[in-house]
Amino acid sequence: MNLSYKKIQSKTVALVMAAGLVFSIVSCNKNPQSPGVEFMPDMYRGPASEPYSVNEFYSDSLSSRKPVPGTISQGSIPNSPFGVNNTIYAYPNTNEGYEAAGNFLHNPIANTIENTEQGKDLYIKFCQHCHGETGDGNGSIVANGKFPNPGSYWSKAGLTDGKMFHSMNYGKGLMGSHASQLDKEERWKLVLYVQSLIAKNGPKTEAAPADTIGKK
Ligand code: HEC
Repeated sequence: MNLSYKKIQSKTVALVMAAGLVFSIVSCNKNPQSPGVEFMPDMYRGPASEPYSVNEFYSDSLSSRKPVPGTISQGSIPNSPFGVNNTIYAYPNTNEGYEAAGNFLHNPIANTIENTEQGKDLYIKFCQHCHGETGDGNGSIVANGKFPNPGSYWSKAGLTDGKMFHSMNYGKGLMGSHASQLDKEERWKLVLYVQSLIAKNGPKTEAAPADTIGKK
């Protein structure tokens, strides 16, 4: 009795092992792209449906869902300096977009010493090698002849905050876009710092002292 029970047990073990062996051999497939035997294909293969085709699952029979009420469409807040959720920039990369950004975009960042200092820190890392420490366009790669002088900031007439931001966003001429390296807040801090460079190093148009007028 005891013996036969053991016999049965060892036969069962052998059977399970054989089944496992057969299974592991059968489940191998030479084609690496093949998923092998699929037991429940509809669990992981959803039925594909074309966008805007008929889908009876929804009450309006449309396969694509409409945006939820209150959705703000991309680019619909043109005067927002941050765009929507700090991601969307409303002005297109065209001359009109550049001019519109120049007219309507204003720096939302407060002109404080702290913000300007943060702008300076970014400027040293991202801009100085081209534009130079003072903003005159004599950065290190310009000085060693590897890059043409971009010109001083103050040589660019009508360079408003919005235009600066726009140029950083898309790039301009030989200057690449900095949108992927700098978020919008950082770019506005850079605008603050560039403005401070212009105020400090740009050409001074001081009125002549009153007592010198008319003399000479
Ligand atoms: C690879 C060199 C290079 C780097 C790096 C660079 N710039 Fe420029 N930048 C230029 C050149 C060249 C121009 C002139 C583009 C033109 O007018 O054709 C320019 C133009 C500008 C202008 C004037 C844009 C306008 O609308 O006329 C601003 C402002 C400016 N850069 C700011 C920055 C700031 C801020 C950074 C750092 C985030 C930066 N640049 C990084 C090369 C560079």
